[in-house]
Amino acid sequence: MVRAAKLGALNLAQGAPGFDTPQNVKEACIAAINQGHNQYVQFTGLKELKESVSKKLSERNKITTDPEKNVLITSGAMGAVSSATLTLLNAGDETIVFGPRYSCYEAHTALAGGKLIVSHLNKEDFSIDWEDFESKINEKTKLIILNSPNNPTGKVFTREELEKVAEIAIKNDLYVISDEVYEDIIFEGEHISIASLEGMAERTVTINALSKTYAMTGWRVGYLAANEGLCTKISKTHTHIVVCAPSICQFAGVTALEGDQKPVEEMRLKYMKNRDLVIETLKRAGLKCTKPAGALYTLVDVSSLGMDGTEFANRLLDEANVALVPGDEFGEYWKDFIRISFARKEDEVSKALEKVEEFIAKVGAHSSSLS
Ligand SMILES: Cc1ncc(COP(=O)(O)O)c(C=O)c1O
Repeated sequence: MVRAAKLGALNLAQGAPGFDTPQNVKEACIAAINQGHNQYVQFTGLKELKESVSKKLSERNKITTDPEKNVLITSGAMGAVSSATLTLLNAGDETIVFGPRYSCYEAHTALAGGKLIVSHLNKEDFSIDWEDFESKINEKTKLIILNSPNNPTGKVFTREELEKVAEIAIKNDLYVISDEVYEDIIFEGEHISIASLEGMAERTVTINALSKTYAMTGWRVGYLAANEGLCTKISKTHTHIVVCAPSICQFAGVTALEGDQKPVEEMRLKYMKNRDLVIETLKRAGLKCTKPAGALYTLVDVSSLGMDGTEFANRLLDEANVALVPGDEFGEYWKDFIRISFARKEDEVSKALEKVEEFIAKVGAHSSSLS
């Protein structure tokens, strides 16, 4: 990423939205600064923002919360996942996650002295191997981390899949961290919060952020919902790390959640257009890929081109000045894959895709002449 930035490469790597934060949100932040809201706020979060989050959780996610007991405002979703993981795990505990996994889950588990165990999805269609998943749960397993819509596959877990995860969590008395940062970026299917399923609210930490939905990745505002005792403990961890999320961004966050939601839908439609362009291009170039139902990414096997994801990414950067992420970032098992992000504006995505297509044509012709 550092090399790509230095080279000024076209960006199919990052999940940072190519759109600006809505104007009303920016103005709310400026007003908060001018009104003097420039010091710490209540460490668990600004009262008004916790109330907005609680209302949104009830209306959208079917999760009932008391804003003062069950909601914590965090420094991005990352602040929520790290604080929750550090709170829930003791040294030697295990977290189980579906692979390919967002790399931070491994880092946070390691910071807590725990071990991340991965149950890999099927490489063809990202379906779950339930036998494998259940066989990896043992007496050390404490936590399942779930991410739907998913980075990097774009998979949106179905109700049936979530019910099965819930059943397994209850049977084995496990906590679930449900990272739902892409809930508003769905193209097919529906987003279901696992905490809304029977028996799950007590054992689930539901995590979200304003980052992706409102194109606010730099503002560092996220939130979580958990049972009262757990929420109190996670709040202490979060406070000891960052004190509180930025005050002025929390004021703006109330406007984001309560204000006009049109920009959210406009961005979703633009992402969907980009997604379709990515899939058309890859298919035309002869690569097999699964159409992502949500989030901002597609994960594609490039081994048919006679190279792994790292070689593909390095050569694409050197020869075509386009950056993307090699699959081993999401676990060694996925080294034959690349992740393409379609978060940027349409013109940047289409320009980058033209270069990807040319590159595949070049290396594809070469690899077939060798075989
Ligand atoms: C699955 C997932 N969770 C969390 C994050 C981080 O979110 P935030 O910027 O709100 O910390 C990302 C960022 O790309 C992500 O892909």
